[in-house]
Amino acid sequence: MTTETGKTREYNISAEKPRIDGTLKLTGGADYAADRNLPNLTYGYPVTSTITKGRLVSLELDEALNMPGVLDIFHHDNFDQLSRSPNSFAEENLTSEPRLPFEDNEIHYQGQYIALVVADTFNHARAAAMKVRANYERSDDFLTDIKSLDRGEGDLPGEEQPNDASSLGDADSALKGAAVTLDQRYTIAQESHSVMEMHASLAHWENDMLTVYESSQGVVFQRNALAKIFGIPPEKVTVISHFIGSGFGGKLFMWPHAIMTAVAARRLGRPVKTVLSRQQEYLSTGYRPTSLQRVRLGADNSGKLLSIHHDGCNESSPAGKHDDTVSAATPKMYDCENVAITNRLITVNKCPPCPMRAPGESSGNFALETALDELAVQLDMDPLELRKKNFADKDPASGLPWSSNHLQECWDRAASRFGWDKRNATPGAMKDGDEIIGYGMATQSWEAMRQHCSARVGFRADGSLLVACGTQDIGTGTYTIVAQTASELTGIPIEMIDVRLGDSQLPSGPLSGGSFATATVLPAVSAATREALSQLRTLATAEGGALENVDPESIEIKDARLVSGDRSVEITQLLKDNQLGLIDGEASAKPGDEQDQYSFRSFGAVFVEVRWDPGISRLRVARVVSTVDIGRAINPKTARNQVEGGIVMGLGMGLFEQAEFDRNGYPYNNNLADYVLPVNADTPDIDVEMLDYPDYLLNEFGARGVGEIGVTGIAAAVSNAVYNATGKRIRDMPISIERML
Ligand code: MOS
Repeated sequence: MTTETGKTREYNISAEKPRIDGTLKLTGGADYAADRNLPNLTYGYPVTSTITKGRLVSLELDEALNMPGVLDIFHHDNFDQLSRSPNSFAEENLTSEPRLPFEDNEIHYQGQYIALVVADTFNHARAAAMKVRANYERSDDFLTDIKSLDRGEGDLPGEEQPNDASSLGDADSALKGAAVTLDQRYTIAQESHSVMEMHASLAHWENDMLTVYESSQGVVFQRNALAKIFGIPPEKVTVISHFIGSGFGGKLFMWPHAIMTAVAARRLGRPVKTVLSRQQEYLSTGYRPTSLQRVRLGADNSGKLLSIHHDGCNESSPAGKHDDTVSAATPKMYDCENVAITNRLITVNKCPPCPMRAPGESSGNFALETALDELAVQLDMDPLELRKKNFADKDPASGLPWSSNHLQECWDRAASRFGWDKRNATPGAMKDGDEIIGYGMATQSWEAMRQHCSARVGFRADGSLLVACGTQDIGTGTYTIVAQTASELTGIPIEMIDVRLGDSQLPSGPLSGGSFATATVLPAVSAATREALSQLRTLATAEGGALENVDPESIEIKDARLVSGDRSVEITQLLKDNQLGLIDGEASAKPGDEQDQYSFRSFGAVFVEVRWDPGISRLRVARVVSTVDIGRAINPKTARNQVEGGIVMGLGMGLFEQAEFDRNGYPYNNNLADYVLPVNADTPDIDVEMLDYPDYLLNEFGARGVGEIGVTGIAAAVSNAVYNATGKRIRDMPISIERML
C-alpha cells in the first residue's frame, strides 16, 4: 500500500487487517470474566427487590441458609463498613451507582440488590436466592414514566441543570424576529444496552491484595474505585478484563455487584464469582434514559438559521445522578448566531441511567435533525440544501477553527451514492409495487476527544515485541490497531507483536469509551517505542557495541533493525550480544494545548430509504448510506465495523427499542426475546464510506477515533424517510407499527 507520502509500507497503518484476537474468540480461547475459574471458587447470586419504592423491613433467611451448598448470605445487617467512593471522573474512580450495596434499607428501584447468596455452585446459589423472603413497607408513590409529566407545551418538566455549554447570542429575540418558525417536542424511549456478555465479577483476596476479574470498559477506574471503597492503596487492587462481550457504556463504571462480590470474597476467604442473570442486566446495570426534548427553530425565507432553542430532559435516579446532556452538541452543529440550550432531570424509580453509545448526542441529534427536516418542509426546501446553507465553517460555540472538517464532502458523496437527486419531495409519491418508498437524511456527529495514557513497549530477544497498556479491547479492535501501530513504528510483523491490555497493573490507560481510546492510546505506544529506542541506542553505541561511534540521535528503527546511514544491526542481535531477554521503555502521552486552538469533531452524513407496505403494515429500512469524516482510520475494516454497528444500534433507537414497565414498576420486557432489537433480518444493506483526512492536530497518527458517530443521525433519517413515504411526522421513538397506523 502506498501512503500520501508515497512511501511503501509492508505492515501498515490504514491496512484492512482482521482482528488479531479473532481466532482466540472463535475458538473459546478468549478468557472472559465469567469463564475464569480459580481453586476453591464460590458463586454469588444477588437477591433483588421486588418492590419499586419503599423500605426493606426484614429478610427471612433461614430456609435459604439451610439449602444445599450455601456458605453465607450478605445483606444490610451483616455487611462490611465501607468508604463511600468520591465518585469522580477527574480522579478516575467514577462508579455507575455511587450508593453502596445494602447501604441502608431504603428501596429506590425494582431490582435493587437486597442480599447476596454465596454457595459452592452457581445453581445452589441461585436456588437459595429464590428462597430468600423479604418483607417490605411498600410505597406506590413511584415514577417510571416521565412522558406522563409533560404538558405538551411550554417548558419541559424536570429540574433544570447547571449548564456550562455556551449558549450563543439572543435566541429569544432572534426567534421572535424570524420569518419561519417551528416549535416541536420529541421523545425517545428508554433503551437498554442488551450486551451479549452479562456483567460478571470474580473477586479474590490474597492477604490484603484484591484481584477482580470483571467484564469492564475501564480497569483503571474500577481499580481506583475499589481502592477508595475498601480504603486500601490502588497498588493493592488489580482489575483484569482481557476480553468483553460488548459494553456500549454499561460497563464503563463499576456497578454494585462488584463491591458485594469483593466483600463476600474477603469475608469467606475464598474467591467469589457473581454473574448477573439476563433479567438482572435489565434491572440493575443502567440504560439510555428516556428523553423529552423541545426544539424551536427560527429561519429567514432562504433557510438561514437565525435562532435555535434546544431543551432536553432525561431520567435520573435516586441511587445515582446522570445528566445525559442531550442538547449539549447543538451549538456546534450549524452556523447560527443565536442558540440557547438547557437540560433537565427527573428522578425516576429505576437504577441509575448511564452512558449508552453516543450518549446524549444521539438523542439530541434525533430531535435537531428531525426539526430541520420539518423546517425544510415549511420552507419547501430540500433538507440537504437547508443543511448546506447552514454549514458551520468554524465551531460556532467556541469560535475556534475546526481541526479538520469535511462535512460538505460527506453530504455530497453520501447523497450521490444514495441517489438523493431521485428523491420526490411529495410524501407518498415514490412507489414500488405494494410498497411506498421514503428517502430521509441527517447529519451525523461526535466529538473527538483524547485523554492521557501510558504504555510500555519491549523488544524481546526472540524477535517479538511486547506492547502493554492498561486500556481494554471491548470488541472494537484495540488489540489489532495497537499491533498495527507498533508494527508500523518498528517494522516488526504484526504476528510478532504481543499486545497486552485489560489489566490495571499495566501502565495506566484510558476507558474504552467516548470513541477516544484510539486517539489516546496510540500516541503513548509511540512515546514508549521512542523510550525503548533510546535504551537500544545506548546499548548499540556503547564501547564495543555494533554501532559504536555512531551519533545516537541518528539511529532509527527500520525493519526491526537499528539503522544509521549504511550501518545497521538487528535488534535481536543486539539483545543477544548483550545477553538480554528484553529491552523496554515506558512513557506517557497526553494532549497539549491544541484544544485551546482548535475544535475537534467528527461529522458525517447518512441517507436512508424506507419502504412502507400499508397492506400488511410493514415498515422496513431498505438501504443506509453513510459517509463519515473521522480523520485517519488506523484499520478501515474494524473502523467500518464500528460505524456499521452504530448504525444498527441507531436503527434500534428509530424502530424497535423501548424498555416497558408494568404498573408495579417492573420492566417486563427484560430479556432478549421481548426487548425488541434489530436482528439480521431487520438490517438493511449498509454502505459506509470513510474519508481519509488524517487529523494530525489531534495526534501524530491523525486518528480521531470512531464508533459512536455511527449511532447518530440514524433515528432522524429514518423518521424523515417515514415522513417522505407517508406524510406522517413521527416525533416519538421508536417508530413502532402502532405509531404508523
Ligand atoms: Mo461508550 S457510551 O463511551 O461505551
